[in-house]
Amino acid sequence: MESIAIMTSGGDAAGMNPAVKCAVEYSRKKGYKPFLIRDGLRGLIDGKISEATRADVSGILHRGGTVLRSSRSERFFQYEHRKTAYENLQKLGINKIIVIGGDGSFRALNQFYEDFNIPFAGIPATIDNDIPGTDYCLGVDTALNVIRESVDSIRDTATSFSRAFVIETMGRHCGYLAITSALSSGAEILIAPELEHDLDSIRERLIEDCAAGRDHIIAIVAEGTNMGEKLTSWITTNLKMDARLTVLGHVQRGGSPTVRDRIMAYKFAVAAVDSLDAGNTNQIIVFNDGNFGCTPINEVADATYTLAPELLKLSAHLAK
Ligand code: F6P
Repeated sequence: MESIAIMTSGGDAAGMNPAVKCAVEYSRKKGYKPFLIRDGLRGLIDGKISEATRADVSGILHRGGTVLRSSRSERFFQYEHRKTAYENLQKLGINKIIVIGGDGSFRALNQFYEDFNIPFAGIPATIDNDIPGTDYCLGVDTALNVIRESVDSIRDTATSFSRAFVIETMGRHCGYLAITSALSSGAEILIAPELEHDLDSIRERLIEDCAAGRDHIIAIVAEGTNMGEKLTSWITTNLKMDARLTVLGHVQRGGSPTVRDRIMAYKFAVAAVDSLDAGNTNQIIVFNDGNFGCTPINEVADATYTLAPELLKLSAHLAK
């Protein structure tokens, strides 16, 4: 009987737990012996690997974060530590890995494959939605819903107090969360790395708007622009409105996965097991135009993400 080990790696994202659960249950159904690697790449080196029990994956579906825990391991860059990791797998007879994480984790596992010929399948999971080659990464819908709820709450106080609020969303260098959230929460201002902004025309637009009766403002700023504080004081000075900055931070990474993230997790996990079962060696599972597929790691590793042009078109006016 062949064995598959399942791990989560890099920043945690809602949807990782249902993906682990499904990967365990589906691989078992297909005749594999499933194992779990705890603590991500660090645990792979330290031998935190055990056969998955039914108890390991029961009662985890609705939980945020990752019950397997995660890490960002510098040691994995060194061959000697990767060799230790390989020996850990050898001892247990594990010859395939499913890694749920971001492109850094995929690159690490690809190096491991090149060193020791251990095939892997990668399931994209990051709230940033910045992995090239896939329209969707696990955790994004949950993060967007956390942001929506936060912005709706902040708008309650903004309207009650005639204030401006600048809300910073996560996303590292990617503006997907900011742009989608600005659209879905009806923000008046949006600053994201992918959109050119023009403060002069934002001033003109909002002065006119306020003269016509607008008494509060919501601005969404992507963390990658580093504009949160600057925009907050700019609003106070230029729009003569009391302004506050709210940095949403890690609250966006947590929370029970939404229905979409649970179902996507199941579909990604089935596709990952099927990909390994079909003999693929170093593929990332991708979701594009409603379909799941596999793409070689090199196409992900060498590419840069781009946002859908229609998203940029829909939101560009908020940056001007
Ligand atoms: O990649 C996910 C993410 O939450 C980014 O949006 C953010 O920039 C980063 O991780 C924060 O990293 P850390 O949790 O290590 O502070």
